[in-house]
Amino acid sequence: MAAIEGFMEAMAERHACKRFDESKKIPEAQLRTLLEIGRLSPSSFGMEPWRFLVIRDKELKEKLRPLCWNQPQITECSELVVIKALVGPLAPGSAYPRNMLSRRDLPREKIEAYFKKYDDFSAERFGRGELACWSVKQCYIAAGNMMTGAMAMGIDSCAIEGFEKEKVEALLKMDVAKETLALIIAFGYRLKEPPARVRLPFDEIVSFR
Ligand SMILES: Cc1cc2nc3c(=O)[nH]c(=O)nc-3n(C[C@H](O)[C@H](O)[C@H](O)COP(=O)(O)O)c2cc1C
Repeated sequence: MAAIEGFMEAMAERHACKRFDESKKIPEAQLRTLLEIGRLSPSSFGMEPWRFLVIRDKELKEKLRPLCWNQPQITECSELVVIKALVGPLAPGSAYPRNMLSRRDLPREKIEAYFKKYDDFSAERFGRGELACWSVKQCYIAAGNMMTGAMAMGIDSCAIEGFEKEKVEALLKMDVAKETLALIIAFGYRLKEPPARVRLPFDEIVSFR
């Protein structure tokens, strides 16, 4: 009971923080907890396609900001986490999915059946040019968990996809055959209270049949 109350409190309290208090730093242990929340997140076929890059280099953050619509969160936050999504290694028949699926404690024939299922599934997405998008979707699940988890520790956040993707990838020297930029999240502490929350009414977005 207490757990759900705490969770709902974090859900209600979290907001997209636009200005961070630059004087406040996230304790290292809490940053690690945040990253751990990302690591423990669910992913389709258990592919864990996220890779988290924590950018602490001040100069790099300053170069990044103009490529992110000049958003102040990039340089004012306490910790900036770039979430990269694997793409190339997820291709059907690759070693990575085989290694990931082989970790399961299942009989060999079941593992082989999983390989086939994954290959068919990923080949279809690959054929439609949707493999990168599929990988990014998984990263967004981790991102959501991390932002709520952060709030449960009293840490504010802002998801940022307002960026020039190719330019950020080039700045971060990303191998785009291997991975694609999914999302950036700024974490820190609010400078001022957020505006009132706006959400559609429950009955407008939920239906039962
Ligand atoms: C995937 C994603 C990308 C976002 N990108 C930005 C961004 O680049 N800059 C920004 O200020 N807010 C960004 N936001 C925040 C949203 O605008 C915000 O979550 C939404 O308006 C609802 O407000 P709330 O989070 O304060 O409840 C992003 C949110 C998500 C989920």
